[in-house]
Amino acid sequence: MTIVVTGATGQLGRLVVEALLDQNVPAEKIVATGRNVAKLADFAARGVQIRPIDYTDPASLHAAFADAEKVLLVSGSEVGQRLPQHLNVIAAAKEAGVALIAYTSIANADTTGMALAGEHQATEVALRDSGLPFVLLRNGWYLENYTEQLANFLQHGVVLGSAGDGRVSAASRADFAQAAAAVLLADDQAGKVYELGGDTAFTLGELAESVTAATGQQVSYQDLPAEDYAQALIGAGVPAQFAQILADSDLGIARGDLLVSNGELGALIGRPTTSLSEAVQAAADALSAANA
Ligand SMILES: NC(=O)c1ccc[n+]([C@@H]2O[C@H](COP(=O)([O-])OP(=O)(O)OC[C@H]3O[C@@H](n4cnc5c(N)ncnc54)[C@H](OP(=O)(O)O)[C@@H]3O)[C@@H](O)[C@H]2O)c1
Repeated sequence: MTIVVTGATGQLGRLVVEALLDQNVPAEKIVATGRNVAKLADFAARGVQIRPIDYTDPASLHAAFADAEKVLLVSGSEVGQRLPQHLNVIAAAKEAGVALIAYTSIANADTTGMALAGEHQATEVALRDSGLPFVLLRNGWYLENYTEQLANFLQHGVVLGSAGDGRVSAASRADFAQAAAAVLLADDQAGKVYELGGDTAFTLGELAESVTAATGQQVSYQDLPAEDYAQALIGAGVPAQFAQILADSDLGIARGDLLVSNGELGALIGRPTTSLSEAVQAAADALSAANA
């Protein structure tokens, strides 16, 4: 029997496979899947099973899940097309008779008004309707959503957003991945719902302060009406539809939709979650090393 990780060719799924290996799961019991499986050659060399899947291709899912005991469904990245894709994964997991399917949902899925949440909420309903034993990993925002923009913040001396004084409980992808691995390896997870977020929530103003502290360069937060923020993103080359989604997500942060203060993430991983200052400092160090 195997543990199948979807999205293992992506950033979160890769870290989940790493976390399972770190927990001494035998490599041959782990099945790493994705479309672009060339990215998984290092795992193959370590004995992990590699199987190509496409969420739009039920036959590939059927083949990949044949001996699955547990499946981690990492939510897809093609926003707007994800529900039918996730439904295919759930149907294949049901056909395979898996003992548990874990799904990476969104924080506060019961109450959030964020546009991005719709496909997650519909997937949660489909999981409930499927009759499968399932566990929800309602992940908050990644710290990397911010740290990956560090060079941009420094270039313009500004963090732009529409989140006002709203706070976001972000944590690193590695934190969320370790939590997913812990849940996959624990007994009695069916029916559980985890709301996962960083230990200390921050405002985008505090993000800017943290960038200033880590780099010595003055960066400030500029709050914009959502439409202006979307236009600024479009001007910077972000596709229009995604720019609207990002601006809408900031309005969600302003409302508290990405605030999670229950400590469940830290409890699952058995350590404090990665802090904003640690993440920004690591990104600043990586940027100076790359520029050296
Ligand atoms: N919490 C947050 O802040 C946040 C931010 C961004 C995204 N997310 C969500 O969390 C997920 C994981 O995040 P990430 O950073 O790991 O994203 P990522 O690096 O973009 O990885 C996405 C993964 O989904 C796979 N995928 C996409 N469409 C697929 C399809 N049709 N069939 C099979 N696999 C497919 C990709 O496979 P290939 O690369 O092989 O095509 C890849 O492995 C995202 O997909 C998204 O749903 C959360």
